[in-house]
Amino acid sequence: MLRGENISFYYVKDKAFIENLNINIPKGKITTILGPNGSGKSTLLSILSTYNKPYKGEVYIEDKNLNNLKSKEIARLIATVHQHNESPADLDVETLVSYGRVPHKKHCEKDDENESIINWAISSTNLDDIREKKVMSLSGGQRQRAFIAMALAQKTDVLLLDEPTTYLDIYHQIGILELVKKLNEEHGITIIMVLHDINQAIKYSHNIVVMKDGKIIQEGQPGDIINEKTIKTVYNVEGVICNINEEEMYFVPTKAC
Ligand SMILES: Nc1ncnc2c1ncn2[C@@H]1O[C@H](COP(=O)(O)OP(=O)(O)OP(=O)(O)O)[C@@H](O)[C@H]1O
Ligand SMILES: [Mg+2]
Repeated sequence: MLRGENISFYYVKDKAFIENLNINIPKGKITTILGPNGSGKSTLLSILSTYNKPYKGEVYIEDKNLNNLKSKEIARLIATVHQHNESPADLDVETLVSYGRVPHKKHCEKDDENESIINWAISSTNLDDIREKKVMSLSGGQRQRAFIAMALAQKTDVLLLDEPTTYLDIYHQIGILELVKKLNEEHGITIIMVLHDINQAIKYSHNIVVMKDGKIIQEGQPGDIINEKTIKTVYNVEGVICNINEEEMYFVPTKAC
């Protein structure tokens, strides 16, 4: 559904970081990108969201080449929460979340539909008690949830989340991952997220993409691709996979090599 075809991208001119990469994200599924620091997860997400433009290759959603769409049209199709997020000093949470309505033409009107979407985004991310606070006065995890709420308010079919749980305590990590699951199951939203926690990736993903050095080195269902060998190759960490039953498993690291 969301496809990158023959993507080549560099940060430093003439030094390609990503070369001829192809990716096809399945519609209506949760896909997680795993890989070590610096492997290119955020870069790939930024290319799929059109935040960064590759010097070669195209990104498609269904049959639409995103290169041919205006940014407002893209924002009605894809919402993105980046790894690092800033907001103006005087902006409160509710106003930030309301910006998610900007791509939809009547965002300025305080109509019932806009209000109910904003309220839904705020309550889904547990922000009701702090909706009037300034975004920049929030803790890292609260701020992360405010930006996720803004993305939810965009009401897109595709949601890209770069490390949505990194700053969150364990309660809110599970809260966000359960929300991701619910958005996928109940609204059919296609999710692409970056996680560092292998066990959360196994539990919450239909599909996993493993990156190393700007390349996709494995892709498939968690049970088919996550094993001791892959983890050793990618992260240089030894450990064991424990199978709870046919569907559930988890990884226990034993040694960083
Ligand atoms: N704006 C930039 N300018 C120059 N180089 C960059 C820039 N952003 C990223 N890079 C480089 O590109 C490579 C991939 O970075 P990227 O942020 O995509 O990695 P990542 O897999 O998301 O890592 P992390 O797990 O630390 O978030 C790294 O070597 C990084 O230094
Ligand atoms: Mg990153």
